[in-house]
Amino acid sequence: MPEFIVTPWEVSGEIDYDQIIKEFGIEPIDQKLLIEMKQITKEIHPFLTRKIFFAHRDFKWILDEYKEGNPFYLYTGRGPSGSVHLGHVMPWLFTKWLQDKFNVELWFQLTDDEKFLFNQSLSYEEAYNYSYDNALDIIALGFDPKKTFIFSDIDLAGILYQNALKIAKKITFSTIKATFGLDNSSNIGQIFYTSIQTVPAILKSLIDEKNVPCLIPHAVDQDPHFRLSRDVLPKLGYYKPASIQCIFLPSLQQGGKMSASIENTAIFTKDTPKEVKRKVNNAFTGGQPSAKLQRELGGNPSVCSVFKYHFMLFTLDDEEIKKIESRCRSGSLLCGECKNNLTQKINAFLKTHQEEREKAKDRIDEFLIKEKLDLKEIVQEKLKKL
Ligand code: TRP
Repeated sequence: MPEFIVTPWEVSGEIDYDQIIKEFGIEPIDQKLLIEMKQITKEIHPFLTRKIFFAHRDFKWILDEYKEGNPFYLYTGRGPSGSVHLGHVMPWLFTKWLQDKFNVELWFQLTDDEKFLFNQSLSYEEAYNYSYDNALDIIALGFDPKKTFIFSDIDLAGILYQNALKIAKKITFSTIKATFGLDNSSNIGQIFYTSIQTVPAILKSLIDEKNVPCLIPHAVDQDPHFRLSRDVLPKLGYYKPASIQCIFLPSLQQGGKMSASIENTAIFTKDTPKEVKRKVNNAFTGGQPSAKLQRELGGNPSVCSVFKYHFMLFTLDDEEIKKIESRCRSGSLLCGECKNNLTQKINAFLKTHQEEREKAKDRIDEFLIKEKLDLKEIVQEKLKKL
């Protein structure tokens, strides 16, 4: 049994990211690359210095092209199988930062088709409706509507299909089996699906009628898709898409990642302050069994999920996080205080997010693009002409 699994459809166990770098053949983000990036962005996001965004493919090429006046666009996505939680928000915050710093377009794919095909208990309508629900969370983060295009695969099916065909013809079933572990019992939509996830990596090239570099910020589990994209797209005359890849926000319980399917492990963007408090209070920590022991022996932040939430999302100031860590280790910071601190920060974030999410309901048309697919209308139009 492997100790961990990381595929686009399953993430579990204690993940060894160094091993992933080797197995996937991705590049670690090193100091040299960060210095080069800083020349353009002027500052470095803590997600980079903290190795939360830890690996890439061809990011240096993206920077080189940018410096030579050939800017890239961003492409990322979300599989809308349920409500959004903080683990999803994390890479989107970084994507927003990239959009602001480089002043570039973002194409955001909502893969309702994927979630319908891969999740036996999710109906077509549910998956499609979650696209719209989840789009509100994306809009709430403050992306620039002039530079941001959000689409559901179902809504953009025609354009996606036209291009997915050309991609699909260059991928064999045996490659799909080897890359994704699919087998003869998989439904045929699952086998085809990856060709749909490749298309947004060329959408801007299609519009501009010339090749435009594409940078994909994503969690490392999506790398197998884009490995295939990088194989196929040059055969069709396009650039290979580049990527910048992050680790997973861990579960609030022991081990694993934040998971929408195991309720207490995750904090959802729709959670109330009370729910957040309860979940954080029940979180797995690196604390001692009693306050007395904690004062004597100190806690262990390196195994503590509360500390990881501070480190990965809510205490991005370096001095402040060092203080939390040293106070924890020395025993002067008890888990109760540290949890309260985190609860307050999460609730402050969610308060603003929920307000913006409400406002997004009236702004959804500023962001979403879709094709007109009303068959009745099409037929009537045809008949009118006769
Ligand atoms: N397949 C992804 C998921 O299940 C969604 C997705 C589509 C995506 N395109 C992407 C994620 C590009 C990151 C980057 O969540």
